Amino acid sequence: MKIKEIQVKEQLGATDIFFPIPAALIVCGTIENANIITIAWIGIAGSNPPIISISVKKSRFSLELIRKWGEFTVNIPSADYFKETDYCGIVSGKNTDKFTDTGLTPLKSKKINVPIIKECPYNLECKKVKEVEFGDYRVIFGEIVENHIDSDKIDKNNKEINIKKVNPLVYCARIREYWDLGEKIGNGFKAGKEILKNVKMDKP
Ligand SMILES: Cc1cc2nc3c(=O)[nH]c(=O)nc-3n(C[C@H](O)[C@H](O)[C@H](O)COP(=O)(O)O)c2cc1C
Repeated sequence: MKIKEIQVKEQLGATDIFFPIPAALIVCGTIENANIITIAWIGIAGSNPPIISISVKKSRFSLELIRKWGEFTVNIPSADYFKETDYCGIVSGKNTDKFTDTGLTPLKSKKINVPIIKECPYNLECKKVKEVEFGDYRVIFGEIVENHIDSDKIDKNNKEINIKKVNPLVYCARIREYWDLGEKIGNGFKAGKEILKNVKMDKP
């Protein structure tokens, strides 16, 4: 393949810009005393066992709670809840009860003591398994021990998650914008086969 020489890219330097990403609501603490923090630095780190990573700044009140109780829930808000999500990311639980302020409802989890959020269509119960430090941040790895989805977000025909109904909130860092998912454009592990059928594998 010939490498193009025309300069069409702006160099942005070494930054943390990455998009799109979720803006997840992490609940930590206990059922009686739960706090919510908005986290965008989040991702699946492994499938077997299922592991999720969240990156929490050392100064966050929530980090103390996650460390103290060793459990947290990850709650994916629908795009309709972008204001509540933003609120949980600009106010500290040190000074106020974010469940009361936003009107979000804590629901008992099945396998851990930290609640999930009723209004969020998708929820994960997690037990902390590891912690790694990177500068100002602590990356917390949690094993996902249970998942929940709203019954009305399951497709009646194929019994699968209907992502349009879930309508997950999408965040774009740097430009600091909330978006919704938009339209479906193809199927994973299938769309690439359109290209594959015309390719001759000639590398050894
Ligand atoms: C969209 C958005 C994403 C955020 N992502 C993170 C993140 O990944 N890690 C983090 O430590 N703080 C993140 N924050 C900031 C915290 O959510 C914020 O400081 C929060 O008020 C801390 O709450 P707490 O003091 O109750 O722990 C984010 C804020 C917003 C609005």
